[in-house]
Amino acid sequence: MNAERLIEKKRDGGVLTAEEIRGLIEGYTAGDVPDYQMAAWCMAVYFQGLTAAETAALTRAMAASGPRADLSSIPGVKVDKHSTGGVGDTVTLVTAPIAAAAGVPIAKLSGRSLGFTGGTVDKLSAIPGYRTALSFEEFIRQVREHGIAMAGQSAELCPADALLYALRDATGTVESLPLIASSVMSKKIAAGADAVVLDVKCGRGAFMKNRKAAEALMEEMTALGTAAGIRVIAFVTDMEIPLGCAIGNSVEVDEAVEVLSGGGGQRLAALSKTIAGAMICAGEKAETLAEGRRIAEAMIESGRALDKLKECIAAQGGDASWIGVRPLTPQDGAYDVYAGADGYVEDIRPVELARVVMDMGGGREKKEDDVDLTVGLRLWKEAGAPVAKGEKILTLYGRDGLPMEALARRAAAAVRIGPERNVFPLIYRMADSREA
Ligand code: URA
Ligand code: CA
Repeated sequence: MNAERLIEKKRDGGVLTAEEIRGLIEGYTAGDVPDYQMAAWCMAVYFQGLTAAETAALTRAMAASGPRADLSSIPGVKVDKHSTGGVGDTVTLVTAPIAAAAGVPIAKLSGRSLGFTGGTVDKLSAIPGYRTALSFEEFIRQVREHGIAMAGQSAELCPADALLYALRDATGTVESLPLIASSVMSKKIAAGADAVVLDVKCGRGAFMKNRKAAEALMEEMTALGTAAGIRVIAFVTDMEIPLGCAIGNSVEVDEAVEVLSGGGGQRLAALSKTIAGAMICAGEKAETLAEGRRIAEAMIESGRALDKLKECIAAQGGDASWIGVRPLTPQDGAYDVYAGADGYVEDIRPVELARVVMDMGGGREKKEDDVDLTVGLRLWKEAGAPVAKGEKILTLYGRDGLPMEALARRAAAAVRIGPERNVFPLIYRMADSREA
């Protein structure tokens, strides 16, 4: 394998064989292909794309770069869930306990936040005592005993992706459809589930900015899963505006608890019920998506989903005693923002709000950065809602030493209030590989 030749071949629009791609990934994972050559190849892919066969070969090679998790000792159909990332996307924290309460074994490995998109592992880390780093044996034992575990994925899971994702993040090559599809699906294959529910985000606050690109990504990922013998139920959902009302780590845990208690933001609650329903259906605890959704609603109404979250937190060494008593987020740094006019919430810009939280220290620009898990913001009015001048529209949760007034001004500017009552779509498309 000559990496330079493979870079030139892709640069010039050629098609690589499966063997060439496997050689490249094996060489890179072993440290024989240096970062600069792999980065050049990713940039060539960024401009030239990959064929479906090349993407499949890349996915297989990445999934094979480490051991595939063996979940066979857990009875039942194991279901994974993945979002391509967005703002206020607390769906995993809500849906995993719902599906587990409905009897679907949930062995969830999640990533950390990067850039303006959140990561479930950071949110879980905001819960006092919660251990996100479990050994594989602990992880499996917990799923067997409690029906749910939510932990951080280690670099051993899919080492090629851990290396490649960090490289792509630093070289302007994240936003490539075949590189995203292979990155996500190689991890899902390595994580060992029988079925996966995919939430492909679409809009300003997502990697895929328009429906055409998001639907193409959904189709590519569905095909990759199917080829690997995994059932895929996929959605393309809106990320033009934030999904939930909370942005930040501990505030998102608070909103997840609210949704599991029957409240929370309406968009987050609605999408969570649909996705949890799909997980219940994929886990063969419901015949149809509609039945799955009804079961998801019943798990919330009965309190069983919230109990399952508490059980998971306790099993992972965390403190769940605050749930139902007080918010997790410290309230002493709260800074409220009020509406300057009457009208409706016409628009909420997700990236601008996420940047405010990042600038409070709540996100990471580079993967080594530390995150302040307690800072965040909370919207009190959803898009489309009526507001009166002087009503509270959002709260920033900051800390001493932050320029709260300036941050609040930026956050307020991301929420447009005017006379139009706009309608905001939530789910654009759904596909089930079983019905294809
Ligand atoms: N999420 C991933 O896991 N990989 C990507 O490339 C993009 C989003
Ligand atoms: Ca970057």
